[in-house]
Amino acid sequence: MHNNLVLIGFMGSGKSSVGRRLAAKQGRSFLDTDAEIVTEAGMSIRKIFSLEGESAFRDRETNILRRLVDYEGIVLATGGGIVLQEENRHLLRRIGPVIWLYAKTDILFERAMRSQKRPLLLVENPRIKFESLLAEREALYRKSADFQVDSSYLNHEETAAKILELTSSTGTADSVGNK
Ligand code: S3P
Repeated sequence: MHNNLVLIGFMGSGKSSVGRRLAAKQGRSFLDTDAEIVTEAGMSIRKIFSLEGESAFRDRETNILRRLVDYEGIVLATGGGIVLQEENRHLLRRIGPVIWLYAKTDILFERAMRSQKRPLLLVENPRIKFESLLAEREALYRKSADFQVDSSYLNHEETAAKILELTSSTGTADSVGNK
């Protein structure tokens, strides 16, 4: 296990904002799989989905994680679909303790819809799509995570503090106790 922290969770759970704060608090580097993919591909996530399709995007996610397994001292935020591939779930655990950020559905949906960058929500009825994806993925987040944090009523700073409290009091991901 490396000295990293990995954030997983659905769109709107605050992974990137919280991850940036966590990294700043701890003097770690912050990385985001979506941002890595955009840099590598030289195009936006929306464009990757429309030109290459979702499965090419998923392959890109796996390639990023393979590259990160030997990194030390990072906070990694991930795209909401990262847990879909079995290989990714193994890679995430190798990178570091995995924290699942979640929140009540209405709160997640309201936050997720603030951005037009999410191709999966650019559909006629985004709420139905949102709920069906969430239902498909919840069990995957749960089984991928060493810790889980409800961010419904916490701001980013409070969520970051909560994560530090959980991960430092129990040491490593092996000593779970917070699921
Ligand atoms: C996705 C979530 C997005 C991004 C892509 C696909 C998903 O990241 O990776 O639009 O499948 O849930 P965020 O979770 O940061 O929005």
